Amino acid sequence: RLIKSSLIEPDGGALVDLVVPESERASKALKADSLPKVKLTQIDLEWVHVISEGWASPLRGFMREDEYLQSLHFNSLRIKDGSLVNMSLPIVLAIDEETKGRIGSSSNVGLVGPNGGLVGILQSIEIYKHHKEERIARTWGTTAPGLPYVEEVITPAGNWLVGGDLEVLTPIKYNDGLDNYRFSPQQLRQEFDRRQADAVFAFQLRNPVHNGHALLMNDTRKRLLEMGYKNPILLLHPLGGFTKADDVPLDVRMEQHSKVLEDGVLDPETTIVAIFPSPMHYAGPTEVQWHAKARINAGANFYIVGRDPAGMGHPTEKRDLYDPDHGKKVLSMAPGLEKLNILPFRVAAYDTVEKKMAFFDPSRAQDFLFISGTKMRTFARNGESPPDGFMCPGGWNVLAKYYESLQAE
Ligand code: ADX
Repeated sequence: RLIKSSLIEPDGGALVDLVVPESERASKALKADSLPKVKLTQIDLEWVHVISEGWASPLRGFMREDEYLQSLHFNSLRIKDGSLVNMSLPIVLAIDEETKGRIGSSSNVGLVGPNGGLVGILQSIEIYKHHKEERIARTWGTTAPGLPYVEEVITPAGNWLVGGDLEVLTPIKYNDGLDNYRFSPQQLRQEFDRRQADAVFAFQLRNPVHNGHALLMNDTRKRLLEMGYKNPILLLHPLGGFTKADDVPLDVRMEQHSKVLEDGVLDPETTIVAIFPSPMHYAGPTEVQWHAKARINAGANFYIVGRDPAGMGHPTEKRDLYDPDHGKKVLSMAPGLEKLNILPFRVAAYDTVEKKMAFFDPSRAQDFLFISGTKMRTFARNGESPPDGFMCPGGWNVLAKYYESLQAE
């Protein structure tokens, strides 16, 4: 049965899908095999996944220089019809001098995964300089040492970038037991339509869900019902790509999220849990635009944003890297995101009087407790539980087990 979709349009009008149809796979693989090869890192492969499924629609491959410059300088791309789509992070593929030499004047290259298998083809390529310092300064607003994505990805990468049109031979799989949570934007849209959602609200996260997060999500649902929507669906959308070493790993977070649904903190009937395959930059207000834009492509027309989205502590100073309010302010004004309804939230913290997570009330600041990841780790290390009402017991058990396992190492 065909249901007419009433979901928000993807950026550029049509969702990009760069996975080669099964009937053409064999011939494309032969072609790829005959080309000069570029070896992908695990994080390059995560970006291949992101691009191939259309999260970055209308982007059709790793950025060529004109796209890279627009992204870096304007946080957006001008598309054929003259309109702007948001694109705040450069999605680029770096190569070294030796690889550039091997490519020579070939206009296509084969992409080889970290395990040695052929992944896809990059066509009509363009090779241009990788000005790392400028990329870092413009993306993060700082070149302070200790930015996780910079240290892990950019610094070790080559001094050239190669852009072009991507084709992927087979859908990207991780075989980590979580692939069944990796719905593409297309699959998510089908699921929202099947459920006849009249509003889809997305919640991006990279941390375990505490009751403060749940407060934002449940409050949004209430507001949408008050606005007259009959069937709002929550997309609980943990980020699944690269994260920094002291973040909770994806498998533990997924288990924790299941408990949050089992314990009834979020309603399983009106929630879809899926993995967002993007790597994390920790670029604050710049990155939150990418997080929001990608969810338009997955069919979300409402986006929740709270305190310090995509933020982290300053790598060398004792403060947040970004102003914790800038993420939501920037998102509400971002070029190319006009069609997305941004739902900004104040900071939530543990109210020691009410004994639950609540929106911070500055008039009685002394009643509130901020429970950071470090604090959670300390609780777990000492075999203590966080205060009642901070997180559902099932969810906390998963974390306590994880933090204990860290201790044992
Ligand atoms: S993020 O990198 O994905 O943004 P995190 O998982 O910590 O990090 O946050 C997910 C979402 O919840 C973001 O929109 C963030 O702003 C919001 N958020 C996190 N903690 C709080 C809090 N204590 N109060 C309000 N919003 C919060």
